[in-house]
Amino acid sequence: MRITIRDIRKMKDEGRPIVMLTAYDYTSAKLADEAGIPMILVGDSLGMVVLGYENTIPVTMDDMIHHIKAVVRGARRALVVGDMPFMSYHINPEQAMSNAARMIQEGGAQAVKLEGGRRMAPTVERLVANGIPVMGHIGLTPQSIHQLGGYRVQGRDLDAARALIDDALALQDAGAFSIVLETVPAPLARLITGRLSIPTIGIGAGPYCDGQVQVFHDLLGLFEDFVPRHAKRYAELAGTIRDAISRYKAEVESGEFPTMEHSFSMDEAVVAQLEAE
Ligand code: KIV
Repeated sequence: MRITIRDIRKMKDEGRPIVMLTAYDYTSAKLADEAGIPMILVGDSLGMVVLGYENTIPVTMDDMIHHIKAVVRGARRALVVGDMPFMSYHINPEQAMSNAARMIQEGGAQAVKLEGGRRMAPTVERLVANGIPVMGHIGLTPQSIHQLGGYRVQGRDLDAARALIDDALALQDAGAFSIVLETVPAPLARLITGRLSIPTIGIGAGPYCDGQVQVFHDLLGLFEDFVPRHAKRYAELAGTIRDAISRYKAEVESGEFPTMEHSFSMDEAVVAQLEAE
């Protein structure tokens, strides 16, 4: 049975930490699902770690749908959340509705995530009223990178911290089922988590959130362009993969691979006939 937003809420109520991981394709989603991850985010971070863009801004709805479909095919049990890309929900709630509906209907996701606080509350309300579960995302919101002027910690001074608390409450009131807190000081994340009845999912927000999210490629050491401070590497797969590819190259070049073990035979008589011709 697939995990639902009710199960996620229950985890907060029961004090069970909620683990979320990003995935972008069938294989990564299947591995995360088999490892028991209850919630998979098809993040627009795919723009950087899969598509090689400098930031998440160029990611389109079509990119997201393509990857969400693959993740949904790989994840049988996890709740799949599709990330709404830049400018796919900002223009008005109608635009947000039709794009969120695509993620659910065409992509097969069970929820969507969008960035922004109070300003996005009417949009969240509209989606939720129409049966689309919404995860909020406040703090460092990468789609506003040009406005924020870089990937900085958010909510450090009194006014900014108060604004983030208001944002979180506004999203909860609008019906969001959970909120990502990205790159905010741990004490502020603890405060927000204590004020909300819906779960907070932290990334670079310290240990006091109800759950944590990490980017697949960061966790596994697959993305080497930079390592965010909030990322912990549980493997160094880029090195392992490079070594394997180098061994493959060396074996082809030396004639060691392939052997008959990796090849297919045919009737000797047919071969003889072909050679004679
Ligand atoms: O796009 C993404 O992967 C995200 C997470 C970092 C929360 O938004």
